[in-house]
Amino acid sequence: MKTETKSDSIPMQYREGKTAFMGMDIKVDERVLIPRPETELLVEVAGDILKQIHRDNVYIAEVGTGSGAVAIALAKLIDNANIVAADISRDALVIAAENVDRFDKNGQIKLVHSDVFSFFSQDFCGKFDAIVSNPPYVSENDYGALDEWVLAEPKTALYGGPEGMDILKKIISESMELLSPGGFVALEIGYDQSEKVKKELRANDFIEIKSFKDFNGHERVIVGRKSG
Ligand SMILES: C[S@@+](CC[C@H](N)C(=O)[O-])C[C@H]1O[C@@H](n2cnc3c(N)ncnc32)[C@H](O)[C@@H]1O
Repeated sequence: MKTETKSDSIPMQYREGKTAFMGMDIKVDERVLIPRPETELLVEVAGDILKQIHRDNVYIAEVGTGSGAVAIALAKLIDNANIVAADISRDALVIAAENVDRFDKNGQIKLVHSDVFSFFSQDFCGKFDAIVSNPPYVSENDYGALDEWVLAEPKTALYGGPEGMDILKKIISESMELLSPGGFVALEIGYDQSEKVKKELRANDFIEIKSFKDFNGHERVIVGRKSG
């Protein structure tokens, strides 16, 4: 009979200190969420829209950067991207800084400490072509049912309030002011949150709302545009 040891509940990626994301070895430890394959969809969807903007500079804000994986992958895809990548966790920002040092050779990414958009002053109004986020979106019920190796990840990175919607709602309601006319939000969401998130986007005047399915058929990424 197999005896359970502490290391059984430590994800392999933490033991190895890295994970693969969009063809890169991203450093991870217990201070950050392990980037998931689903999140590559978020990068691809945002990247495809951003590639259609033909200007010298494109401005992106990422909320909840964690290891920095999403910002780093977007910087690699979009040569002219200037990215402000924010997180509420100073511990996570330490790991993000190490990954950014390794991969962001053109200095496209600025890391900031921020509770959602608390860092973003009036100067940033109308600035961003895209606001991208894989926020904590696990509901109270689902959090209680998570496997022990998922529970090894920071609760701040996973738990999104009773319905998992707390941070999503905040991002949606505060994004409009920061987006440029025609700018968009791209959000990774929970397997059952599509309708609620679309409703929030509509309520906040977003248009051209579209969803993108992951490899399990769940609407996993939602995009909404600011008119203009
Ligand atoms: C699901 S993880 C995403 C990490 C990384 N972007 C990825 O996709 O692998 C969510 C991240 O949001 C951060 N976070 C949680 N609450 C936040 C808040 N109020 N403001 C900013 N970041 C927050 C967490 O610390 C965590 O790094």
